[in-house]
Amino acid sequence: MIGHDVDRVDGRIKVTGAAPYAADTKIPGVTYGYLVTSTVGRGQITGMDTAAALASPGVLAVYTPFNPLKLFAYVQEQNDERLPPLQDKEIRFFGQAIGFVVAETWEQARDAAGLITTTYQQQPPITEFPGRTLQKFDEVEEVVGAQTLGDITFTASYTTPFQHHCAMEPHATVATWNNDHLTVYTVSQGALLVQRRLSETLGVDPVKIHVLSPHVGGGFGGKWGNWAQVPLACAASRALGRPVKAVLTREQVFAMAGHRPMTRQTISMTCTADGKLTSIVNDGVTSRGLGGNWSESVANWTLTTYASPNIRVTKTIMPLNLGAATVMRAPGEANGSFALESAMDELAEQLGIDPVEMRLRNYATLVPNTGKPWSSKHLDECYRRGAEEFGWSRRAKQVRATVDGDWLVGTGMATATYGASRGQASIKVRLYPNGTASVSGTAADLGTGQYTVFAILAADELGIPVARVRPELGDSTSPAAANAGGSNSTCTNGPAVQVAARSVQTELITLAVTNPRSPFHGKDPASIVYRDGSVSSGGLTMSFGTLLTTCDVGGVEAIGTSPRLVDPEHGYRSFGAHFCEVRVHRLTGEPRVTRWLSVCDAGTIVNTKAARSQIQGAVVMGIGQALLEATEVDASARFTNANLASYLVPVHADVPRIDVRFLDHPDPLVSGLGAKGIGELGIVGVAGAIANAVHHATGVRVRDLPITLDKLLG
Ligand code: MOS
Repeated sequence: MIGHDVDRVDGRIKVTGAAPYAADTKIPGVTYGYLVTSTVGRGQITGMDTAAALASPGVLAVYTPFNPLKLFAYVQEQNDERLPPLQDKEIRFFGQAIGFVVAETWEQARDAAGLITTTYQQQPPITEFPGRTLQKFDEVEEVVGAQTLGDITFTASYTTPFQHHCAMEPHATVATWNNDHLTVYTVSQGALLVQRRLSETLGVDPVKIHVLSPHVGGGFGGKWGNWAQVPLACAASRALGRPVKAVLTREQVFAMAGHRPMTRQTISMTCTADGKLTSIVNDGVTSRGLGGNWSESVANWTLTTYASPNIRVTKTIMPLNLGAATVMRAPGEANGSFALESAMDELAEQLGIDPVEMRLRNYATLVPNTGKPWSSKHLDECYRRGAEEFGWSRRAKQVRATVDGDWLVGTGMATATYGASRGQASIKVRLYPNGTASVSGTAADLGTGQYTVFAILAADELGIPVARVRPELGDSTSPAAANAGGSNSTCTNGPAVQVAARSVQTELITLAVTNPRSPFHGKDPASIVYRDGSVSSGGLTMSFGTLLTTCDVGGVEAIGTSPRLVDPEHGYRSFGAHFCEVRVHRLTGEPRVTRWLSVCDAGTIVNTKAARSQIQGAVVMGIGQALLEATEVDASARFTNANLASYLVPVHADVPRIDVRFLDHPDPLVSGLGAKGIGELGIVGVAGAIANAVHHATGVRVRDLPITLDKLLG
């Protein structure tokens, strides 16, 4: 069953509206919390007048830094807010949570929030890079081999703007207490991440916190951390003795729920006349929002992509008065690859070498910064197959050489790579008398297809149809499985599903030989064979459903654990190559992506249908990164286009047919399953491929994302 097109098992309930998302949760007596947010970007709150809000109809409570809900400091870093809300009066960013109004209805809470007046002692917020190196350190510095510079030199800087995840589902949390037990329905990329955070900040034992997050309407990194509505809803519910629902507005999501940082990379490369790199230096600069701690290691992708005897990257952090910068699909790699893939194209052109050939000449057969072998790598096959299928050999040698009516036509390509690993995961599989099985773990499905991966792998191991397996995700009471991040779900959870599905067969056989009602009672367990949903011994075969019914038991279950992979000897990555055609209007400068092919080497692909969709979605997100997406900040440090009308993401008309191919090379070292990751791989290199195609079409090299038409005119 592995490696075929399987429809999503949760598809029907999603398209019919039956899938319960956090904000859909209905609890009798629920109250509504509305966040009050700062209207300055930096300073101190000197006063808040809440009298009118408190007197407003339906209002139950108004919490502010002057009347806070008690929240303890966060302990573990989670790429989100540095401090819990309302515990101090310092303003670190525009849109910071400074109050929480709870009322009987959402409208009452929102209207009362509007009646609060806040006074500040303001300071000018810091929102830009130039001349403001406030905190500099070289986080990573690698010098491999001796300094032997080549004849050819190249230097250029590449910049990327703030971006936002723009998941369709805004951040929502519903909290309810039963004595000292908390139940919380919330958006999350991992129920255990919420449980841990709430345990820290509420001072409650994690076993008393039940987190439910069965369906998540997109995450992209923006739901890895827990933002202000999570602790506020839970703490207010505890204080009031009523359930509380809090949903961020879209503008609040932009302000306080994380963003991709602004970056600059200055790449200097030297090479021999035949294009062999002799040194690569990438000096990366990244913003860090003062609302959080996290910063992007934007230059690090340069460490592992091309062979060179000298590679050095640095990281400089610019703290800005913004909410937390956080992980966003391929954090580091999406921005990092734009710079290096553009630079490789520029250097290839300077040398008169074809861009694919340039990459093959600098192919890293060993991990460039460690010299270790790869677990598996078939990137050369991605380049060759992609070039063949795309028709790369027909590409014009000169830029601005192909014109079709009013459109200048160009093609470009780029490399994609993303780290692979296997964490520890535990999964429970249970067999039922009606012949079905459930498979459960705390994993999350953000629209990624993880439910279906669970169902396929359990069905495959149990030898029963996918339709007879019920995957259960997003519940903190399940065994601890992988959170959805770092393209880590299938490679970590998949092997654990297989282990659990094998273990439950052993449990079933034990039942068969020990239960007095069983026709196999008293037999040697070694004589019993499990196959295709049935146990057999001698001439007797019985399905597990019939056996469980005969034995009159409710089911058998097993928890299987797959350990974390520890292998200091190899480097693990997924690989791919993108090829695209871009047309740029000769008069308006409008760029349109018109053709796309991605070839991926990501080990075993469990569900080819959902995996293609993952890569296509990532390419669409990369088209946004390349051509459309940028969040603007004004002098008050406010994200000005903080809505889905003004922050442009690709729509159907912006997206061509996207062809995706998967090479069939299971990774022999990552796990018995052989699956690496695909969630983030697809966006890496997309902006570089598009920038290269734009250059090929027009002769204009744009080193500043997004590539908007104003940069292509004149
Ligand atoms: Mo994702 S950016 O790996 O949460």
